[in-house]
Amino acid sequence: MTQRAFDVNAIRSDFPIFSRLLPKGVPLTYLDSGASSQKPQCVIDKERDVNEQYYANAYRGVHQFGARISEELDEVRDKVRAFIAAESADEIVFTSGTTMSINLVAQGWGRKYLSPGDVIVINEMEHHANFVPWQFIAEQTGAQIEFIPLTDDGRLDIEKAADVITKRTKLVAVCGMSNVTGVINPIETICSLARDVGALVLVDAAQSVPHALVNVVADGIDFLAFSGHKLFGPSGIGVLYGRRELLDAMDPVFCGGHMINTVSKSQSTWADPPAKFEAGTPAITQTIGLGTAIDYVNSIGLTAIHDHEQQLLRYAHEQLEKIPGMRIHGPGPVQKGPIVSFTIDQVAAEDLAQLLSRKGVFVRHGHHCTMPLHDWLGIPATTRASFAMYNTTVDVDALVSGIHFARERLRLT
Ligand code: ALA
Repeated sequence: MTQRAFDVNAIRSDFPIFSRLLPKGVPLTYLDSGASSQKPQCVIDKERDVNEQYYANAYRGVHQFGARISEELDEVRDKVRAFIAAESADEIVFTSGTTMSINLVAQGWGRKYLSPGDVIVINEMEHHANFVPWQFIAEQTGAQIEFIPLTDDGRLDIEKAADVITKRTKLVAVCGMSNVTGVINPIETICSLARDVGALVLVDAAQSVPHALVNVVADGIDFLAFSGHKLFGPSGIGVLYGRRELLDAMDPVFCGGHMINTVSKSQSTWADPPAKFEAGTPAITQTIGLGTAIDYVNSIGLTAIHDHEQQLLRYAHEQLEKIPGMRIHGPGPVQKGPIVSFTIDQVAAEDLAQLLSRKGVFVRHGHHCTMPLHDWLGIPATTRASFAMYNTTVDVDALVSGIHFARERLRLT
């Protein structure tokens, strides 16, 4: 696909939300793309077009609409395959999101292959979606959880990882990028450590795929999960990539229509992957919208997106660090993606998020579904600004000026 030159203003004009003003004429400063990114017009139009022009169920009828929907879903599967450089579209399972994808592996693979004494390796920076499903399956199977320690600045301590990933390890679950500190994990190294002991690796790529290229084959990733709604696409659609032989060997978790081969009164047999894991009617318009979102990202190019965001991240660190009482959690901008989570002396995260919202600056506050990480940090909550391709230094300046406004309101100046 031909890529256009990176022009942040042109990109912003593709997203209709940025042309609206908030009440009282306040401009929108959207710094919550780590929770959900905004959608370009082409994604919004595509979903509307499906609904208005040819909506029907998929994989069930031969009529023209049904056939077109089935064909477009297959095309999206192939776009996702190419996007993460997988070998076959059959390795792409559509789910409702990252959480569902990870639970699918925990239950579909874990219930069958984990036994007492086996080890699942995780770490304290993981989102609850890549933490709780492993605790749950460990409880169900008698497997144990072990942790790769974190360095003082919140990165994985890779030197120590080799001691934790041992012959007893059956699976290592790790995020591509932390949703709190933005830390980028060395996935290729982890996959190689896991491979050496015959363990599998699941990567929670929810935060990383909108910011950097991924190549599941080159990195040696066994399972990869991500969501449409953080990738400029719709919510309700996510992806699970699994190596073909692993998907073949896994059990289904949800049973019903579409996932079967034969059903008789006495027993049922399963369809081949990915259908085996896609019981019921799929998220039709959302999946097709995800395909359009991937086309959109490809038309700009993740390399250009990454470069823009890294510049912005450096600027954000420089400006935020000047604020009195500011503490940015995690490493400096070189080792992370475009997320900044911070605390400010004497300022509660929730108060700050509310005061910022009055100025049109939208951030997330709280534990960000990472209670173990906040325990490790020794604080209950942080305020998080997360950036995407459409953010600019003007957004960073609005954040900084919003924080000054909040400090004044809280009588800290
Ligand atoms: N996982 C999303 C976040 O970090 C919702 O905000």
